[in-house]
Amino acid sequence: MRLDGKVIVIPGATSGLGKNAALRFAAAGAHVVFGGRRESAGNETAAEIAAAGGSSVFQRCDVTKSSDVAALVDTAVSRFGRLDMAYNVAGVPGDAFVKFAEYDEAQWLDTISINLTGMFYCMKYEIAAMLKNGGGAIVNMSSVAGLGATPGGAGYVASKHGIVGLTRTAALDYAAEKIRINAIAPGVVKTEMMEWGITQTPDLEAQMLAHQPIGRLGTMDEITNAAMWLCSDAASFVTGATLSVDGAYLLV
Ligand SMILES: NC(=O)c1ccc[n+]([C@@H]2O[C@H](COP(=O)([O-])OP(=O)(O)OC[C@H]3O[C@@H](n4cnc5c(N)ncnc54)[C@H](O)[C@@H]3O)[C@@H](O)[C@H]2O)c1
Repeated sequence: MRLDGKVIVIPGATSGLGKNAALRFAAAGAHVVFGGRRESAGNETAAEIAAAGGSSVFQRCDVTKSSDVAALVDTAVSRFGRLDMAYNVAGVPGDAFVKFAEYDEAQWLDTISINLTGMFYCMKYEIAAMLKNGGGAIVNMSSVAGLGATPGGAGYVASKHGIVGLTRTAALDYAAEKIRINAIAPGVVKTEMMEWGITQTPDLEAQMLAHQPIGRLGTMDEITNAAMWLCSDAASFVTGATLSVDGAYLLV
């Protein structure tokens, strides 16, 4: 898939699925303006993109700060003249494997603040920029936890369901203005977040595999493929959708 000359913002791309997407969108010819909290990891990713002949700008961005998000979007517009696409990936697992009544209140607020309020800030500023060029495409990172539920993950599950709702309401608000807004709901993919989960519950990977009709975990490229398709004109009639990319995880 080619996305030559298109401009994308990816907040939260210093590791995992966001980093994979930054590398892949750049390899497809897009100008990638990406954010994250870790400056050294961001600079390393930018160097990898440059070494592969791609175009990117890294800027420090904490999605819980609306001013950081606004500044990241401003950088895309000032450097490349417009914003065509956005992929909102930043997220944290929060407390996991903690039953509801024991769920830590500070963890709840932190998880909602990053995963849900951060998503709201990203969409708000991206949409404002896209309105100026008469359209665009946004892909929001939900999860199978945003369509189903996992035990012991109140903050994560609620925030990922909330992202499905934000996606739907914004898609309705801007369908006529040619801004398509979709979400993806990945199943289990081996990234740093998953490695962390395995440190908390050593047999997590085996448990996940047992619950995976396709017989394996997903790869980062498979998730990025879905995001690229939803961002591209090939998905021109798709908006307000949440696409499961999960090897049928949700069906069992
Ligand atoms: N790995 C999976 O199996 C899986 C499945 C479904 C959904 N997801 C979602 O994919 C996204 C990426 O997760 P991942 O698996 O690549 O893990 P990851 O931990 O490698 O990526 C999360 C990214 O979000 C960034 N981030 C966290 N808080 C931030 C903040 N306040 N501001 C800016 N950036 C921030 C982190 O720095 C990191 O780069 C998350 O939203 C996660 O919920 C992952």
